[in-house]
Amino acid sequence: MATLIDVPAGLEGVVAAETAVGDVRGAEGFYHYRGHAAPDLAERLSFEAVWHLVHHGRLPDARELDAFRRDTAALRTLPPAVLEALPAIARSGPPMAALRTAVSLAGQTAPSWLDCDTDDRATQALRLVALTPVAAAAIWRTSAGQPPLAPDPALGFAADYLRMASGRMPSTEAARAVEQYLILTVDHGFNASTFTARVVASTGADLTAAAVAGLAALSGPLHGGAPSRVVDMLRDIGTVERARPWVETRLAAGHRIMGFGHRVYRTEDPRSVVLKATARRLGGPMVDLAIAVEGLVLDLLDTKYPERRLRTNVEFYAGVVLDQAGLPPALFPPTFGVSRMAGWMAHVLEQAAHNRLIRPASRYVGPAVAPRVDVEPAAVP
Ligand SMILES: CC(C)(COP(=O)(O)OP(=O)(O)OC[C@H]1O[C@@H](n2cnc3c(N)ncnc32)[C@H](O)[C@@H]1OP(=O)(O)O)[C@@H](O)C(=O)NCCC(=O)NCCS
Repeated sequence: MATLIDVPAGLEGVVAAETAVGDVRGAEGFYHYRGHAAPDLAERLSFEAVWHLVHHGRLPDARELDAFRRDTAALRTLPPAVLEALPAIARSGPPMAALRTAVSLAGQTAPSWLDCDTDDRATQALRLVALTPVAAAAIWRTSAGQPPLAPDPALGFAADYLRMASGRMPSTEAARAVEQYLILTVDHGFNASTFTARVVASTGADLTAAAVAGLAALSGPLHGGAPSRVVDMLRDIGTVERARPWVETRLAAGHRIMGFGHRVYRTEDPRSVVLKATARRLGGPMVDLAIAVEGLVLDLLDTKYPERRLRTNVEFYAGVVLDQAGLPPALFPPTFGVSRMAGWMAHVLEQAAHNRLIRPASRYVGPAVAPRVDVEPAAVP
């Protein structure tokens, strides 16, 4: 029996695995994918190039990128069973819950990765990433009473997602803004959903099960559910003049302000720096309001928690960017799932390549073991 080691609540600071997918250096405000600074990738490259990077471990050359685009665009399809069930799936709950169901149904027949060779696993991983945006957009259109739009393999991953979700061909600026958001959110250390996906993969469960588990963990407001709440908050605040009383009342009541604070970063979240620039480029009244609210919230949080250095996190400008690009708030969590699926799949393949069942221990703190109690007469044999 291994010695029990007590670790902090929330596993803060605990190293639970080795990974070559990426790293977050919270104190420096820096993170990377396979050694490439993620904000720099978001400034310069396409989602497909970054997806190739996390999946294959290196950036593609021009020819490889072409082939990767073509091959993965061909995987952007939903099985007939999902298309048939779409009305029921779309009615089953909010889009994030519906997406979980759709992805589960799409991969229903996947065998345990233990029974697949490396090539099969890799193809399944690519397929799960490719079909997630199609499923998210189809769920949204169906729930709005409109027929889903078929994928267009001639378009890039991000532009096609935005087109299928919004129902119209996006502007180049809007498609690029969504693409930058998707690149920035592919991976981010051992966050709750990545850990969850790896735990599920470590049991030998199929890749779809790990993908669905990732989506489930991501659906919580403390993880991936914040951007739509940021937009709700900004709409509720309405004008710059109303911002101070609104935020002060919430803080006084002990509420958390969505889009601020982070478990790992003690500096500005580097993702929020890029997304703030993207939001500025898109422009619009909500962007102006967001910039004003951000300044005010940071001041108030600094006063309330001088030691803690609570800063703007990725979700604050993510909500603003996705909204300005034309995505409805209900699709923000699924959109996070669309990009993070690429990260989860890279982690799951890594877990499969060096697997050890993840099985920690718990410390029992309930009542002492009770003497035997008879609550009913012994059964007569
Ligand atoms: C992200 C988050 C869960 C990180 O939490 P954490 O590392 O566990 O931080 P802690 O819970 O230790 O917070 C320390 C203190 O700061 C406060 N705090 C943290 N984030 C806050 C926020 N956004 N607004 C107001 N207060 C906040 C906490 O209430 C806590 O105060 P207390 O000591 O009086 O209880 C947290 O900052 C949060 O809930 N943010 C809002 C939700 C959000 O934006 N999520 C997206 C994350 S990318």
